[in-house]
Amino acid sequence: MRDQTITAKNAVRFLKCFCVLNAVLGSALTGVAQEKKDAAPAAPMPWMNTKLSADKRADLLIQKLSLDEKIQLLHGTGDPHIGPADPKAADGNGGSGYVPGFPDKNIPGLQIVDSASGVCYSAGSGRYSTALPSNLAAASSWDTTIEERYGAMIADELRDLGYNMTLGGGVNLTREPRDGRTFEYMGEDPVLAGTMVGHLIKGVQSQHVLGHIKHYAVNDQESGRHAVSSEISERAMRETDLLAFQIGIGIGHPGAVMCAYNRVNGDYACENEFLLKAVLKGEWKYPGFVISDWLATHSTVKASHAGLDNEEPDNMFFDAAMKKAVEDGEVTQAELNDHVHRILRSMFATGVVDDPPKKQVPDVFGHAKLAREIEQKSIVLLRNENAVLPLDPGRQQKILVIGRNADKGMISGGGSAQVDPPGGNAIGDIPDKERKQDWQKAVWFPDAPLAAIREAAPAGTVSFDDGSDVAKASAAAKQADVVLLYAYQWQAEGVDLPTLALPDAQDALITAVAAANPHTIVVLETGGPVLMPWLNNVAAVMETWFSGISGADAIADVVFGKVNPSAKLAVTFPMKDADLPHPELVLPPKASQEDWSDEAAMSKKLLLGLPSFPTRYDEGLQVGYRWYDEQKKPVLFPFGFGLSYTTYSYSDLKASGSSPVEVSFTLKNTGRRAGEEIAEVYAAMPASTGEPPKRLVGWQKVALQPGEVKQVALTIPRERFSIWDEKSHAWTVLPGDYRIMVGPGSLTLQLEQALSMR
Ligand code: BGC
Repeated sequence: MRDQTITAKNAVRFLKCFCVLNAVLGSALTGVAQEKKDAAPAAPMPWMNTKLSADKRADLLIQKLSLDEKIQLLHGTGDPHIGPADPKAADGNGGSGYVPGFPDKNIPGLQIVDSASGVCYSAGSGRYSTALPSNLAAASSWDTTIEERYGAMIADELRDLGYNMTLGGGVNLTREPRDGRTFEYMGEDPVLAGTMVGHLIKGVQSQHVLGHIKHYAVNDQESGRHAVSSEISERAMRETDLLAFQIGIGIGHPGAVMCAYNRVNGDYACENEFLLKAVLKGEWKYPGFVISDWLATHSTVKASHAGLDNEEPDNMFFDAAMKKAVEDGEVTQAELNDHVHRILRSMFATGVVDDPPKKQVPDVFGHAKLAREIEQKSIVLLRNENAVLPLDPGRQQKILVIGRNADKGMISGGGSAQVDPPGGNAIGDIPDKERKQDWQKAVWFPDAPLAAIREAAPAGTVSFDDGSDVAKASAAAKQADVVLLYAYQWQAEGVDLPTLALPDAQDALITAVAAANPHTIVVLETGGPVLMPWLNNVAAVMETWFSGISGADAIADVVFGKVNPSAKLAVTFPMKDADLPHPELVLPPKASQEDWSDEAAMSKKLLLGLPSFPTRYDEGLQVGYRWYDEQKKPVLFPFGFGLSYTTYSYSDLKASGSSPVEVSFTLKNTGRRAGEEIAEVYAAMPASTGEPPKRLVGWQKVALQPGEVKQVALTIPRERFSIWDEKSHAWTVLPGDYRIMVGPGSLTLQLEQALSMR
């Protein structure tokens, strides 16, 4: 499966070249752009009046744009990593795409680059950018301030590197945890994921970078992503996957929404009238623009009517073909102007026109510190038998670090979220010339756990075993006081995981080492949930995700108790693959498989559309914990779970009102360490709603000193209790008896109170 994806990527490259070539040959715009660029600035430029609204400024500018200039905004100029670029791309910044602006009108081009957890493609230009912990890691902090700082740091570096638009903000719900992009998303709950992504975008746009949310919508598996049709009921879609976008857009107001590769109920996401026109731009009144995923545009007129505004990265459909459609009257002037208006409006609204980026060296040290802080707040302590953790850094003890590459670095997620590691891949197996093509190779950051543990435990003796020989590793474990075993699972865009089991026989290694040493602590470096058949035999487990540039130090901070872990799972860890809604991953049938042995034929097929195959999300509303709750399936670790080095007690729940609902309770730190507790609030809905047993409706992260007691109060909006009524085609709160439940995790809700809603 992996091989197939590798070739698919090459072919995508080919395709992109093909499109650029098309631009070069087919477009008459090149000369126009150059001419405009050389011309003296025209005056007056009323759209530069910052006192006017973004909409007004866009309207004023549109009046001055020719048809060719308008069309120029509606497509890209190629992805510079791919092949011969459109001459107009010469002013591009080396990112993922570039849309030229109008220098004579003071309008910059859009310099676009992937930056899900840090700015990508820096190595190719000899630049540095900071890798933050993965998006799922940060979501596990349940900390909206952390998300805003996360977004602001990325935007800061985007500006330093000359970009003004991010591609990030992935919020596809984890319906299928084997999805190769689970690490790029924010978990399985729409309220948590939507809220976190909204704050991430807020952070990005606070720095005058155009923010972005993706992949709209129901892009929940990578297998056959160009062909798959996500089949899902409207109610399920509205209450789960779409709700995450709705909340995220409501909080973050991103300048752009990226439509996805897949189809939804038969129609491509980028020409899906229901998704784009009816819901996003209609009901949600989204004022920004819709940008296609890279090569996810499949038509001109249909896509335009449906609400696609900008084709990326090339120009097959929204350049010459669009001009013709406008001239032939198939796309009206009003529709064309609406596309243009949305793009310009987002540029004015986010500040990219008034406050262009200035290149400078990023704050490497400051941002590494922030990466460490974010990781400290993202590490989930899953098991800690007999309080084996934290270890005492001052104790003379024999510590054994085991793990493939644990002496060299820490693993990261692949694909378009891949940030380039300083100095190249720490395991050194990617030749420089292939750097741009390392999508499908695991990249390890030069952030060695072994060195971090040595530094953090000066009184101990720290030795290392790479774990490749199980007998040798177990023998070494027998001699140690404590074992820190770093286990990994790699994930990447474009390929799903065949199983949630750890790869490379690591289960056997962990089992043997745990049998040899009862103080075995497993440190998981994984994109998402993994199976743990050895769980009951190990002393402790920490989930550290893909942990960014300072991961090893942050992990050492938690291991030695400098930091008290506070994060909680944004995804359920199931017992086994067979417990998932789809026990078997849904793979494309032969006819829809991408076979890139004949690239020209395949690229043509892709443009025309591969035969669709369905992934039926019959589990509907039962995403994540709602599935396990409803199906009464035991799990390894439930959504919302996470331990601390201290303990908390919950009491005195009061819930009242219905619009909004006021919830209050008392929280006490009953242990001996300061900590931050994420207090979770769920609602059980009346039977008449037909809902799964419970849903998250709110949470608060509370800092408490040892013995400290705080009153926690939350105001929960009425809509958190609503369902999508397919008959009235509207959100509605059904009158009835609800139950409000509060506690430290979705399966440990200690307080409960009835609440009648009218
Ligand atoms: C991915 C997007 C990404 C784009 C640009 C696509 O393959 O699905 O998430 O932003 O490429 O690199």
